[in-house]
Amino acid sequence: MMNSIGVFGLGVMGANLAINMANKGEKVAVYNYTPDLIETFQEKHLHENATAYYELTRFIDSLEKPRKIFLMVTAGAVVDSVIESLFPLLDQGDIIMDGGNSNFQDSNRRYNDLKEKGLHFIGVGVSGGEEGALNGPSLMPSGDKEAYQQVAPILEKIAAQVDGKACCSYLGKEGSGHYVKMVHNGIEYADMQLITEAYQFLRERLGLGVNEIAAIFAEWNKGELESYLMEITADILTRVDEETNQPMIDVILDKSGQKGTGKWTSQNALDIGVPLTIVTESVFMRFLSNVKEERMIAEQELEGPAPLLEQTDKNEWIELVRQALVMGKISTYAQGFYQYKQASEQYKWDLQLDEIALIFRGGCIIRAGILNEISNAFKEDKELSNLFLSPYFKAILNKNQAAMRKVVIKGMETGLALPCFNASLVYYDGYRSGKSGANLIQAQRDYFGAHTFERTDKDGHFHIQW
Ligand code: 6PG
Repeated sequence: MMNSIGVFGLGVMGANLAINMANKGEKVAVYNYTPDLIETFQEKHLHENATAYYELTRFIDSLEKPRKIFLMVTAGAVVDSVIESLFPLLDQGDIIMDGGNSNFQDSNRRYNDLKEKGLHFIGVGVSGGEEGALNGPSLMPSGDKEAYQQVAPILEKIAAQVDGKACCSYLGKEGSGHYVKMVHNGIEYADMQLITEAYQFLRERLGLGVNEIAAIFAEWNKGELESYLMEITADILTRVDEETNQPMIDVILDKSGQKGTGKWTSQNALDIGVPLTIVTESVFMRFLSNVKEERMIAEQELEGPAPLLEQTDKNEWIELVRQALVMGKISTYAQGFYQYKQASEQYKWDLQLDEIALIFRGGCIIRAGILNEISNAFKEDKELSNLFLSPYFKAILNKNQAAMRKVVIKGMETGLALPCFNASLVYYDGYRSGKSGANLIQAQRDYFGAHTFERTDKDGHFHIQW
């Protein structure tokens, strides 16, 4: 019996996706460039529906036509070299899917190159880590719709399911699926930083203990802030280091790594001209975290205010921080979805924002209760430009903005850097300013460079001798 799909790349993500497919009844062929991971797969994942191949030609020949090959290899040049090695073995109409965190511009290129050669390329954003890959990730596929329809039965079956709907839908042409995944990761960075800022405020300014904060986060996770990241953060805070008996969080070095998708999201925001301040601050905070030695010196050299709040109503502040976090989260999604909207127009992708929010509800790292409301907002008003103006979110912002101000001000007063809270508030105030300061900018540009300006009282472009 032929195999219905092949998985190329048997790192943890590839192996888990293959087993997920096999568990759902697909006959899966698996292959890896180096034999060690094929052996490991055979030892760890013996499955009646999965067959491992040590030779590429046998792997390819075992697949039903049109062949469906899912690549789960390191993003970047490796994807190109794998495609190159597959090409001579494939026939017209075969389908290559790339499930790595590939740059969407690479996916655009691969889509067009393979189309010219009569093959289909489907870029698939995959979110959910190892656990998601095994039990149901969120999948963000793009490419030719007809090609997608041929792999849809498999992808939709292995994806997470929420309310009877698969967290996988066709998103658009070219590399739009990897684009959606990229911005998903940007939102992930911001969400993580926002939760971190709430944690720091509670710990370092209110002086709460780690277990107390874990309990607060677990409680918040039952309400408006319900999300996977809130849940795991509460869990992280309860963990004790076996060696030192200290809270695990206190023995982990405060330097953060990154693979680059958050940075790409910010770079793209600059390219297409949208404000993405919250994600960008979160990327910058990861950079800043890495100069630990310098920060340790600066801590001794540079002055600031007394760090702890004076006698204060703890419960009142906890609620203010919760409201600020809600606002930060909404602002992050507002900016991220605005980026989707603008990208969709500029790249002519026709992204459906309500659908994107739906497929984020399960399997992925940013899954959260709020996504139902985001989806509703874009479904009810297809022209909605910014989530801030949807009735549901507007009401929350109008209520929570006062709390955000108090928390941001208190952070400043006590010398606690809260860049993402701050960026959320600055964006909110900038966005709700019917009158910005750009008239002065225009005057300055015209003054030194004759760049012209528009007037408030008549149409046209004007220049004066200043
Ligand atoms: C996901 C994640 C994942 C990401 C890692 C780490 O959706 O499953 O976004 O794709 O690569 O979580 O990303 P950084 O190393 O950039 O923090």
